[in-house]
Amino acid sequence: MSFDAAVYQYSHLTVDHQRHQVDAALTAGRIATLGARYIPRLEQRAAALLGRAEAIAVDSGSSGLVLALRGLGVRPGQEVIIPEVGWVSMGAAAAALGAGVRVAAVTETLTPTWEQIAPLITPATGAVILAHLRGRPAPDTPRIAAELSARGIPLVEDCAQAWGVTAAGRPAGAWGQAAVLSTNTYKVIATGEGGLVLADEPRMLGFMRAVAGDTRQPTPQAVWRGKSRMNELTAALALPQLDFLPTLLDSLRALQQHVVSALATVEGITGLAPATAEDTSQSNGSLVGMWLPTATLAEQAADALFRAGFGCWWPGPGDLHTAAAWPVQPEQPVVDVRRYLDVQIPWLPAGEHAAFAHQLAATLTAALKESPC
Ligand SMILES: Cc1ncc(COP(=O)(O)O)c(C=O)c1O
Repeated sequence: MSFDAAVYQYSHLTVDHQRHQVDAALTAGRIATLGARYIPRLEQRAAALLGRAEAIAVDSGSSGLVLALRGLGVRPGQEVIIPEVGWVSMGAAAAALGAGVRVAAVTETLTPTWEQIAPLITPATGAVILAHLRGRPAPDTPRIAAELSARGIPLVEDCAQAWGVTAAGRPAGAWGQAAVLSTNTYKVIATGEGGLVLADEPRMLGFMRAVAGDTRQPTPQAVWRGKSRMNELTAALALPQLDFLPTLLDSLRALQQHVVSALATVEGITGLAPATAEDTSQSNGSLVGMWLPTATLAEQAADALFRAGFGCWWPGPGDLHTAAAWPVQPEQPVVDVRRYLDVQIPWLPAGEHAAFAHQLAATLTAALKESPC
């Protein structure tokens, strides 16, 4: 059975509304970032979604990370702690400001707990970046935020993959001093490229706006200003997707639940994420992760899923999401992240959910049986 109605590029679901808004902006001749109509709307909507005072729309999540660290005053001689899994631009943001990078190992949640972060903290620590990955929250966020706050160390939440995710009852991105979203092609809200940086502190927000290229924004003293603002047409693409987000997430979580139940019966899978009903409600529903006994099995399972037409991710060699492909690695890894893989949950009519989950489980069962390892 093939699932012709499955939509993996979620942005496609609102394409008519996006076309209408882009057309309106073009027809009105309003494409400039300064004086834009859609950009401030997107900024307000994103800030409300994450419960932050303000958002600044930028040209990528990677630019947002640099702005966040710069806004927090990270400087040469300091260090930034980043997690072992995320994206290469977390460390690049620190390096761009002349700071060193230390990498915290991750647990089976694909995120570090406070236990992995604490030993890396020194008087030189300028900030910690915590990434909420694969559509799920970093479970130890409240403790990490509290411990860092007690030490006066700022926390940046990387929410590039976490649209619609909650962590311990609050939106992912509401815990630290700053948060970053991405609207890159592969994200739940996708505009090709784009991002947002969010914070509460007015002086930090003003400074980030200024160095991101807002010429109207004064700074206390002269500073080097760059240009990393979002395009008005990009905001026009993002807004209809934001309107549609609750409907999308309801559908994804419903299918995700079917998939989790079906995969629970597959012999050889040693862990599933989300694992509980609470995990499901905190996730955005876009993925189901699983752990296999060996990296070889995980690679074979990913290969079988890919050949059967399922969307999946396995962090193999050279994958820039993991520290194995970065200039710095964790000193003491906790898990072999190559034992992890996940499948993407498509938008699919509810009547096809059970069959999709069944076929996915059958494909994995066959792949794990075939395997000589
Ligand atoms: C965890 C994480 N952080 C940051 C980024 C960077 O976002 P962008 O591609 O918008 O620069 C990504 C995107 O791949 C990501 O997955």
